[in-house]
Amino acid sequence: MTGQTQRKYRADYQPPGYLIDHVDIAFGLEADHTHVRATHQLRRNPQASATGPLVLDGRDMALEQLAIDGRELHASQYRVDDTTLTIFDPPDQFELLIENTIHPENNLSLEGLYRSGDILCTQCEANGFSRITYFPDRPDVMARYTTRIVAWPEAFPVLLANGNCVESGPMPCGHHYAVFEDPFPKPCYLFAMVAGDLGMIRDTYTTASGRTVDLRLYTEHGNEDQCHHAMASLKQAMAWDEDTYGLEYDLDSYVTVAVGSFNMGAMENKGLNVFNTACIFARADTATDSDFALVRDVVAHEYFHNYTGNRVTCRDWFQLSLKEGLTVYREHQFAIDQGSPGVTRIRQVRAMREIQFPEDAGPRAHPVRPESYVEMNNFYTITVYEKGGEVIRMIAQMAGREAFIAAVRHYLDKHDGQAVTIEDFVIAMEESTGLDLAQFRHWYAQAGTPRVRVATEFADGRLQLTLSQHTPATPGQADKPLFDIPVEIALFDANGAPVGAPQVLRLTQAEQHWTFDDFEAEPTVSALRGFTAPVRLEYEQSDTALARLMAHDSDPVCRWDAAQALYLKTLIADVEARRAGSAPVAAPELLFDAIATLLDNPPDDRELLAEMLTLPSEAMLGEQFDTIDIFAVDAARRALKQVIARRFDARFAALADAHAPTQAYVFDVAEAGRRRVFALALDYLAAIEADGIAARAASVYECADNMTDRMAALDALRDMDVPEREQVLADFAERWADYPLVMDKWLRLQASTRRDDSVEHVRELLGDSRFDFTNPNRIRALLGGFVRANRVGFHRADGEGYRLVADEILRLDPLNPQLAAALASMLTDWARHVPAQADGMRSALERIAAAQLSDNTREIVTVGLERRDSTD
Ligand code: PHE
Ligand code: ZN
Repeated sequence: MTGQTQRKYRADYQPPGYLIDHVDIAFGLEADHTHVRATHQLRRNPQASATGPLVLDGRDMALEQLAIDGRELHASQYRVDDTTLTIFDPPDQFELLIENTIHPENNLSLEGLYRSGDILCTQCEANGFSRITYFPDRPDVMARYTTRIVAWPEAFPVLLANGNCVESGPMPCGHHYAVFEDPFPKPCYLFAMVAGDLGMIRDTYTTASGRTVDLRLYTEHGNEDQCHHAMASLKQAMAWDEDTYGLEYDLDSYVTVAVGSFNMGAMENKGLNVFNTACIFARADTATDSDFALVRDVVAHEYFHNYTGNRVTCRDWFQLSLKEGLTVYREHQFAIDQGSPGVTRIRQVRAMREIQFPEDAGPRAHPVRPESYVEMNNFYTITVYEKGGEVIRMIAQMAGREAFIAAVRHYLDKHDGQAVTIEDFVIAMEESTGLDLAQFRHWYAQAGTPRVRVATEFADGRLQLTLSQHTPATPGQADKPLFDIPVEIALFDANGAPVGAPQVLRLTQAEQHWTFDDFEAEPTVSALRGFTAPVRLEYEQSDTALARLMAHDSDPVCRWDAAQALYLKTLIADVEARRAGSAPVAAPELLFDAIATLLDNPPDDRELLAEMLTLPSEAMLGEQFDTIDIFAVDAARRALKQVIARRFDARFAALADAHAPTQAYVFDVAEAGRRRVFALALDYLAAIEADGIAARAASVYECADNMTDRMAALDALRDMDVPEREQVLADFAERWADYPLVMDKWLRLQASTRRDDSVEHVRELLGDSRFDFTNPNRIRALLGGFVRANRVGFHRADGEGYRLVADEILRLDPLNPQLAAALASMLTDWARHVPAQADGMRSALERIAAAQLSDNTREIVTVGLERRDSTD
């Protein structure tokens, strides 16, 4: 943690000097340390130069034994420093024995072998394996693993590792042991072992070819009944991958372990996934509909990695999107196939616009395939993941569904068992589909969101449509090439009837024209249907055209988008007026007419109705400005919400009544939609503190049989200064005291409450016994909730919000650098804000930068501060 680590460049790739065919690794788990004994079979890589020392990676461990072919090495034959073990003059082929000790009981970084509660578990992606033993910690070294675990049976009755358990039993000394063999060669980042006193649920899945797979899901005792939805989701995912891609699971067992302390969502270790409990637990009374969907999608994501990631893996970490982009795309398609395709797609689009576009426009902008990094953990980003997924989606769309699936099969067959590059993937796509992806490749190499301008001219029954593209510069990439951009469009007449079929226009030049003939009146253009490309559309459509699309567009994404555009027009004008010190701008009547039309003719999909009635978030609204004024954004958004609520208060009351809970909880499209509309109606009524709303929310809270309706009530009460709020919060805390994940909702709700002293309140909660500084979920709930969902509090004029976050980053960094860096990245977009905020955020970053930092946090703050030179 010296902050001196070298920057790594994609261009510097060298094949590994040695290959490892087999790894035999044994763990002796004791209360105060773990002993590791590893025997590797090494041989020189014919693809690498035939000389040179063997350099192994390793951190935070004590070396105890080092032998080659049974002979202990003399001190002059090797060298150990903070991060490596170098062996001089190794033979061409040999057996290497390494013994070392590690201290999982004090490892709060949650990488390598660590403790989560009473469970010992591993996390090796990206470079955690080198915290367990000395090893070439890179994904292109693939070996077969045998894992032996020895432990006290009282503390660790359950022992798990990748692959099949081939031997187990008691030992004379009182320990017990288990040996696992994984038949598939794998990179070390997919290694996993777990030991603990665990409860389990079990099921089986019969594959298309008739094999039975044993499915087990482990968690701390007492939580088993929160795991059934995850198990059902796994079976859905297994069936989906067979039906869609013809891919069948390849081992006899699929084991998942849910742990409370985990830096990310989950990890796809071969045959032994380790999950954050937040991505497994879902029971009607403890989890919301969004939690149910999250669990389903993350379970599917990790399962899909078995092919896209595990069977074919990444050559180096610059290729991360090879597995993540493709797997996110597969997860997205799976989610869409589970019902409510329109709304599911809308959520995906929203994540791109609200989180990825800002990343791509800020100091941390990087290509889907980055060129360099200091700390790989900082590159598990929404760009690599979701933009990577959108890039795959464009290929799928250009190829057509069948051809794309055939191409993925070709890629998997061609590279089965290999560690490959994004370029290998693109070549496989070209070979199989016949597409020419030469220009398309820029999507992988270039950062930044392309802007696509749409202009139309109508004369003599002819519509001329002009599309043009421009991509703003990003750090290190001043001149952008032209992208290959698929833009789906459709035309509608004045009554909203479609004219002709939708079509995909491919914009490959700076500007291109298309003409459409034989119209009696000017048609309305629906553009970028389904979000066919991750671009920012610049299209000044009239209010009338937007209202027409909002009422009639057959594409749910564009229909929703038209509503968003209408809201945004009003909001932007109002924000500008407020900033200029003029009177607030009122919403046009046409907006109310459009809402009335929507309420009179709601879409069948209730969730779509709710989405269309939801105003653009503060993040989305902020994104519309080069310089963001948080307070003007907040005021404009709240004002419009209240105006709409007042205008339609009777309609919202009726909507709430018509969508109130009537039956026991089920997680399906109809009921989730019902609950969404109910929550939305309560939210509007709460915005104007409509008569009786607090009492109503409290009674919803009382009577609900599920967490979704309960949270709807809590959210409605959140910003109200009423006794009901305090009663409900107190009841919640008592009821769920033994459910840390549920208490995260309680922490988050309070962190996001609008109040003048919210900074002080968050500080107080940091000292609450229900908060735990060593658990990432607690930190994400409290601090993440504060920064993301309480913009007015975080950006408070006196700068105390920034100070609080900086204090916590500095406190967290020595313990969990990965999470500290993630928090620090929330301060890096300071230059987007008006000077009052920008200065405060920048000073907070500077204060962090002045401290002794991990590589992780150092990289983030350095990038965050570099921007000063180019913008000041
Ligand atoms: N590879 C995991 C996934 O996307 C994410 C992850 C990365 C988890 C690094 C832990 C550490 O499924
Ligand atoms: Zn993944």
